[in-house]
Amino acid sequence: MRLWLSKLYCLLIGSTLQFFFSQFSVAEVSYDKQIKPILDEYCVECHSGWFPDGGLRLDTRENILEGGKQGAAVIPGKPGKGWLINLIKTEPGRYSKMPPGKEQLDTEQINMIKNWIAEGAR
Ligand code: HEC
Repeated sequence: MRLWLSKLYCLLIGSTLQFFFSQFSVAEVSYDKQIKPILDEYCVECHSGWFPDGGLRLDTRENILEGGKQGAAVIPGKPGKGWLINLIKTEPGRYSKMPPGKEQLDTEQINMIKNWIAEGAR
């Protein structure tokens, strides 16, 4: 009986701890799950294939890191640098915007991309 009870306690404490910690671990942004779908929807029609616009392919993580004519599109760990974020950010006036002439990314999507880059663009 006592053994049984202590097992029950362990189980209870274990799952309480697990719950507790899961509240704190912020999930890392993942290229496959969150970033690729955005780029596929807004960017890949022009940024893929043999002659991508700006010499930049945005269809795989490797191609994004390789960058385009002006160099790296994304610099892992540095969300303030790299062409991609500069061209999509919505601060008015300073940069031409991507995607051109169409619906822009919303703030949530831009922040997601920023966080992804800050976390090392994995
Ligand atoms: C309608 C076509 C089109 C779409 C859609 C588009 N782009 Fe572009 N993009 C271009 C063109 C054209 C250039 C080249 C501009 C130049 O070289 O002056 C370019 C250039 C770029 C560059 C600079 C590449 C370099 O090194 O010179 C980046 C970064 C970029 N785009 C990111 C994006 C992102 C991110 C998206 C999606 C949110 C996107 N683009 C959607 C047409 C597009």
